[in-house]
Amino acid sequence: MKITKDNAGNLIYLGFEEKSPEIHAEIKKSVDIFTNKRNWKWKKNEILVIDLIDKDVTVILGGLGKEEEITSETVRKISAKAASEARKIKLNKVTFKLDVLKGCKLDNFVKAAVEGIELSKYKFDKYLKKEEEENAPETEFLFGEFEADVNFEELICEAEILSESVCIARDLVNEPANVITPVTLAGKVEELGKVYNFDVEIFEEEKIRKLKMDAYWEVARGSVIPPRFIIMRYLNNPDSKEIMGLAGKGLTYDSGGYSLKPTSGMFTMKADMGGSASVIGAVTAIAKAKLKVNVIAVVAACENMLSGHSYRPGDVIGSMGGKTIEIENTDAEGRLTLIDAVHYIINHEKVTKVADVATLTGAAVAALGQNYSVIVSNNDEMVKSLIDISKITGEKFWRMPEDPEFKEMLKSKVADLRNIGGKFAGSITAGLFIGEFVNNLPWVHLDIAGPAYTDSANEYKPFGASGTPVRSLYYLVKHLF
Ligand code: BES
Ligand code: MN
Ligand code: ZN
Repeated sequence: MKITKDNAGNLIYLGFEEKSPEIHAEIKKSVDIFTNKRNWKWKKNEILVIDLIDKDVTVILGGLGKEEEITSETVRKISAKAASEARKIKLNKVTFKLDVLKGCKLDNFVKAAVEGIELSKYKFDKYLKKEEEENAPETEFLFGEFEADVNFEELICEAEILSESVCIARDLVNEPANVITPVTLAGKVEELGKVYNFDVEIFEEEKIRKLKMDAYWEVARGSVIPPRFIIMRYLNNPDSKEIMGLAGKGLTYDSGGYSLKPTSGMFTMKADMGGSASVIGAVTAIAKAKLKVNVIAVVAACENMLSGHSYRPGDVIGSMGGKTIEIENTDAEGRLTLIDAVHYIINHEKVTKVADVATLTGAAVAALGQNYSVIVSNNDEMVKSLIDISKITGEKFWRMPEDPEFKEMLKSKVADLRNIGGKFAGSITAGLFIGEFVNNLPWVHLDIAGPAYTDSANEYKPFGASGTPVRSLYYLVKHLF
């Protein structure tokens, strides 16, 4: 997105309820007439399109609501809405004016505006026959410059990088399971590593078994498509001993296995690699932004399928960490893949902090709905960091209680642990199950089952994959160094 001082031509203005922006002198009168007639009050998330036919200019107004209630998310949504409108009416060029935000937390708001504009562009329509060739020029957005204490170029660049990475994650999730398999996912990450400049290593079946990733292997073995353990390394801060470890759940399909899901529950299970998509997206953003950080991300990619090779309810299996696990339900597979992933990054890659991200439980959706991710953690500082970050990113998190009594629910009569905690508190017991394998390192678990893939759209996201929490992971890593 370019920056321009010149604000002639089509314009988008954002304004507060009690404090409308300064409209360009040449069009102010006409805009005033229009807004008065419409009783326009800059109410939150409302837009107004004004065609100044005599001047051949279109002006789009976006309401931010009350100034004291302003958030990044408000800016992101109204920017997305105004940008979508500009595209719909096929403006070829438009200047975005943010002057009214001066004095607010400007850098976050500038980024939110860029994200809104960029993310609202996203479509996943590659399998649809196009009705007509779209050869109309795309809307070009310019950013109106004004006196402010921020480096606009830098902010815009960071927000563009983040938006691009969110879209990478969305694409990976939206692709069906016959296209994104463990094998093709590994291939995609190798390609991304080359383009975005991070190191990628892939372990195949033999190495996975040799490392005794038994829990992961038991989930993977039911499929005819072999698993791939994907490692992404980006080490760009030799002065720091910290290495942030990320582990993303990478079930490219989850049928439930012998604890088979009903069709309705299986239908969206191509999205059960949403956690891995978000860590992959985060690494691409971190690498492209050349952050001075160290991060190693892993994905234990596999499918949970039904066959003569599949694991069964009642099996007792091992794990890389050595603990034995009684399988009560083969549909609680994500945690089995994640404990080996987490054990691996801690013991073989020597990460110093861990975040795991997973579409882990329906219980997380039951508890918090489709806009919140569940946090389970052993570390107040990392949780606080995430909650602060969520005010910037608009990606919402809520921490669950982690009392020892929940851990009791994971006790088995025949093994060190069982893989489900019973009927209640499912998102907590699932998180704590993974927590059993983090060796007391600072750790956060993010259950993104609610927001990862939804059938509803918002201003900057169509139905389907959201790309949550790519942006929050980026800042989590950035703020650690
Ligand atoms: N991938 C599912 C969780 C899920 C459900 C994600 C709905 C997104 C939307 C996970 O592997 C699973 O099946 N979890 C079970 C756990 C249960 C057997 C303890 C669940 O939530 O039902
Ligand atoms: Mn499952
Ligand atoms: Zn699953």
